[in-house]
Amino acid sequence: MTTLKLAISESQIQECVGRLAQLIQVDYQDQPLLVVGALNGSFVFLADLIRRMNLPIQVDFIRLSSYDESEKSSGTVRLHHGVRTSVAGKNVLVVEDIVDTGLTAQFIRGYFEDQGAATVRICSLLDKPVRRRTSVTVDYVGFEVPDEFLVGYGLDYNQQYRELRALYSLEEEIDGS
Ligand code: PRP
Repeated sequence: MTTLKLAISESQIQECVGRLAQLIQVDYQDQPLLVVGALNGSFVFLADLIRRMNLPIQVDFIRLSSYDESEKSSGTVRLHHGVRTSVAGKNVLVVEDIVDTGLTAQFIRGYFEDQGAATVRICSLLDKPVRRRTSVTVDYVGFEVPDEFLVGYGLDYNQQYRELRALYSLEEEIDGS
């Protein structure tokens, strides 16, 4: 049986989102910003974050996969859809739900640098440094988390649970009956 155990509450998330939005706003000081969400996991966090920032922003999305479902963590990142907005000369803020190995974040950083972005920064709600396999810099981090499987607030298990307002750890219970 699968059970969900509360890991980070809705109010903790919202307080954190407000803090991150404030930091970003101070750093960019009214400069235009292209905010890019990495689909699918980032969409809830991005929606909340941009509504807490008072900056001139554009929004776009990028879709990647870090491994085929059959071969978990092959280390290969594939780009499925890039942004449609022009990037050259812009300040790009990449929004992620989680940085795990860092392979996806590293790939995205290179993708925008190659397109001539003026600056590229990464904002991730969650950071799992114990799993890191790259030295990618994550500029804004909401919560550092241990190596447990989290769902909710955009994060999924088999595409389920993304709609939950809080973050939960997913625990498999062995049914003794
Ligand atoms: C997750 C997450 C990041 C990536 C992080 O995406 O949203 O994009 O993995 O992992 P990494 O640091 O090891 O590269 P996932 O491929 O699970 O897709 P999803 O966002 O659609 O859930």
